[in-house]
Amino acid sequence: MQDVNLTELLSKMTLDEKIAQLTQLATPFFKGSKDQGEITGPMKEMGITQKVIENAGSVLGASGAQQTKSIQEEHLKNNRLGIPLLFMSDIVHGYETIFPIPLAMGCSWDLSLAEKSAEIAAKEAAVSGVHVTFAPMVDLVRDPRWGRVMETTGEDPYLNGEFSKAQVKGFQGSNLTKDFNRVAACVKHFAAYGAPEGGRDYNTVNMSEREMYEQYLPAYKAAIDAGVEMVMSAFNTVDGIPATGSKYLMRKILRKEMEFEGILISDWGAVKELIPHGVAEDEAEAAFKALEAGIDIEMMTTCYVDHLKEQIEMRNLTESLVDEAVLRILKLKKKLGLFENPYRGADERLENEVVMSAEHRAASRELATKSLVLLKNEKNVLPLNHHQKISLIGPFADNGDILGAWSWKGSREDAVTLKEGISQGMDHSLLTIAKGSNIQSISEEDAAEAVQAAKNSDVVILALGEDSEMSGEAGSRTNIKLPQAQLDLFAKIKETGKPIVVVLFNGRPLDLTDIHDQADAILEAWYPGTEGGAAITDVLFGKENPSGKLTMSFPYSAGQIPVYYNHFNTGRPKDAPDAQERYASQYLDSPNKPLYPFGFGLSYTNFLYKNIQQSAENMDPEEGISFTIEVTNNGKMAGEEVVQFYIQDVTGEVVRPLKELKDFRKIFLNPGETKEVLFNLREEQLRYYHSDLSLKSDKGKFNVFIGSSSEDVLSLSFQLL
Ligand code: GLC
Repeated sequence: MQDVNLTELLSKMTLDEKIAQLTQLATPFFKGSKDQGEITGPMKEMGITQKVIENAGSVLGASGAQQTKSIQEEHLKNNRLGIPLLFMSDIVHGYETIFPIPLAMGCSWDLSLAEKSAEIAAKEAAVSGVHVTFAPMVDLVRDPRWGRVMETTGEDPYLNGEFSKAQVKGFQGSNLTKDFNRVAACVKHFAAYGAPEGGRDYNTVNMSEREMYEQYLPAYKAAIDAGVEMVMSAFNTVDGIPATGSKYLMRKILRKEMEFEGILISDWGAVKELIPHGVAEDEAEAAFKALEAGIDIEMMTTCYVDHLKEQIEMRNLTESLVDEAVLRILKLKKKLGLFENPYRGADERLENEVVMSAEHRAASRELATKSLVLLKNEKNVLPLNHHQKISLIGPFADNGDILGAWSWKGSREDAVTLKEGISQGMDHSLLTIAKGSNIQSISEEDAAEAVQAAKNSDVVILALGEDSEMSGEAGSRTNIKLPQAQLDLFAKIKETGKPIVVVLFNGRPLDLTDIHDQADAILEAWYPGTEGGAAITDVLFGKENPSGKLTMSFPYSAGQIPVYYNHFNTGRPKDAPDAQERYASQYLDSPNKPLYPFGFGLSYTNFLYKNIQQSAENMDPEEGISFTIEVTNNGKMAGEEVVQFYIQDVTGEVVRPLKELKDFRKIFLNPGETKEVLFNLREEQLRYYHSDLSLKSDKGKFNVFIGSSSEDVLSLSFQLL
């Protein structure tokens, strides 16, 4: 259809066709899909009619140029008005070329690589027929018991916002109508899904409105300001109302305040879940409440198709709420060019060239290398060299489960394991591999074989971690230690007296107190993606200098949660000069600070910070203030350093965090090189939400901190006039 007139098209649609357009179904319902008819699980109770399928608006989880084209072709044969389907899927950190999980990507502090990874993911997805990805996930997190911390970039609102923008730009590019190598993005999960009580997925979220505005909303807003086409509602409640049925969240904040005009889609089943939440008696009421809140697309339940028509008649509603939802969906289809070309970028021939290309794998390896965080390196046991006899031990020594959750199309078989990575670069006679244990179990013979391998080596690489199913959606844990079997293996290897380099594969900050003191080195690899083994090898043997910095604090234990860097001082700060021995805000059995703080990460070289300067003692709100600091690489190896810039508003109308990240620079320095790093601070960066939710700054004293982590800084002060 050349330049379709959407208002005209809408006027031709029956109410049934409009309501079906608001429905998203999985591939088994559609002719032409590889799994057509495999209606299993909850889909069986859905009672979907053929009429609804013929008029459905979008498909969940379809991919592959051939499959998407045949589904679209079959659909258009039966859709009366020739309205094409939208194909939507979860491409969170890569399509088939899998990049490090977002929590790892955040630790790279590399926004251009983040954008590039999204661009590559979009290119592979678009040529495979996908139109929309359910990413970026930007939920702020402070609780590593929650399995989905792996899916976000961490605990800071500013940094999450920067990564949110970068990913939206990478996925969408600047012209979705012309650039068929891009896909529409969907920021999720609106809102505050990352703060469930107890870190238990889908649980209640309880927080003040101000906290939500200050900490949890900025990253969604950053995506919306970057032009994201879609927002996904969260499963949780916010202030006692499920997000998916909340007019406050969706009409007041999202539509009015954030001026979002795109599509709002429910998360899987979240419309129907208004019933167990206890705010809807039945599916009819759920349908009404979700539509009233502004949910445009209902994912994978049929409250809309089964009840909206009667709700409109019974409640004497106009069709306008339905019309505005349908129009938003038609607008995106038009923007994507689907009316002219319903197959858009799907191309079987190109698919084979583009997907998993060497160029894409190289990009994944580069981002993985920069996402690795060196947590400990005693006596410079790292980097290793190729003359050493090495024993590679542990359940992740030769394990393809390094893609992490939400790596849907990625294949473990394609992943470069740590064994493959290390083997590629060294004399095999010097390398011994022994599993030592499984993820959750250990046998005497496996352990004995590993101990023997360790004894016959100069250094042990101990590859430990979580199974990827132990994090991700519904992957909540109360005990965030390494599984006991692996701690037992560690202890047996420690008895050999050999130097131990621990490499961690995990989707969350872990409680590492059992190994921290006894390991000689600890390299946090997260789930590093398709090229993970190669990237880790590059760092272990010094081809690459680690530069990752944590974007989520590592607690000493689950008992310390939540522990995060931008916390308040309290009225009884433990480290105040006049703090009482007992009656201060502290634990009897744990430090207050995390084991590893936000912004922390070691290098093979070291960086010296000196000569911090400011352009003025006082800030004129019209002019701002600039700060400089000199950073010197006074080691023997070139490397990158993330120079972090924090402020503290010393006295506010409400309490203010002791530190707030406001800027950073990732700089490269050769040995002996010094660079002066400049930060320009503007008055608007000092604004915060007051008790009346007004966003403004206060005159008065501010501290500025610049350094290599949230706890290793030089400081200055200024007055805002
Ligand atoms: C899941 C997730 C959401 C995902 C959706 C579709 O339940 O919460 O992030 O995009 O379903 O797979």
